[in-house]
Amino acid sequence: MSVFRAWPDDLVDLYPRRAEPTLRVNFIASVDGAATIDGLSAGLQGPGDKEIFDSLRMVCDALIVGAGTLRQEGYDALRLTPEARAWRKDRDLPDFPLMVVVSRSLELDPEQLVFSDAPIRPIVLTHRQAVPGRLTEVADVIAVGDGEIDLAAGIAALHARGATQLLCEGGPALFGSLIARDLVTELCLTVAPLLVGGGPGRIATGAPSIAREMSLRHVLSREDMLFLRYERQGS
Ligand SMILES: NC(=O)c1ccc[n+]([C@@H]2O[C@H](COP(=O)([O-])OP(=O)(O)OC[C@H]3O[C@@H](n4cnc5c(N)ncnc54)[C@H](OP(=O)(O)O)[C@@H]3O)[C@@H](O)[C@H]2O)c1
Repeated sequence: MSVFRAWPDDLVDLYPRRAEPTLRVNFIASVDGAATIDGLSAGLQGPGDKEIFDSLRMVCDALIVGAGTLRQEGYDALRLTPEARAWRKDRDLPDFPLMVVVSRSLELDPEQLVFSDAPIRPIVLTHRQAVPGRLTEVADVIAVGDGEIDLAAGIAALHARGATQLLCEGGPALFGSLIARDLVTELCLTVAPLLVGGGPGRIATGAPSIAREMSLRHVLSREDMLFLRYERQGS
């Protein structure tokens, strides 16, 4: 485990791509455990967190997000800076990661920029009974599971498309389901120096699950924020 007292120049090297498939999850929470302020994560964020957020996007093959977060945070098309695209090109990676949205209801707006302005066609993961409608005009809809999304099969479908380095940006309901199925290999957690009090929920919600052991890989700090990287034990 490494503790960095100064902000590293080579930040991205602390979030390596791996030889094997991985599911990395990125979240921010206040010191008292709130996942949002006024319904969004923006009030918790800071510059260090933004740098890590961008680095994680740069290194992944696919970015997975739950439909709740997509709707509430108003996701735009997944774009990267020219520098990030150059970094990817140097490593023979496609210009942009795949955008993957997880939705049971498919109550998604095809006009939302994440779909209508996407540089590459996004994927929507759903179950076999869901009715895609107009979404098929703007996304590849992959149906896995009957009545409920089979998340393990969904992840296997991404692997089959060559996307093995997966980044999930939440939200809490999706994270809770991924934990329940023991699909998470890594958690990058930013702790924001705020006491938010009661009201907002935690970063994982849903049915209770078995506790999964994690190992701390590094600790970074900047402007009173903590940046922690944990890996699932044995991964
Ligand atoms: N602090 C942070 O870092 C952070 C990160 C992300 C989000 N957030 C906050 O979290 C809030 C959204 O929370 P949320 O829990 O509603 O969002 P979510 O986990 O992004 O989305 C939940 C939705 O995902 C879909 N889903 C499909 N299969 C699922 C499964 N097996 N388990 C769980 N969800 C599944 C469903 O979509 P359908 O309804 O379409 O069926 C479900 O309603 C927002 O306020 C956002 O700002 C905070």
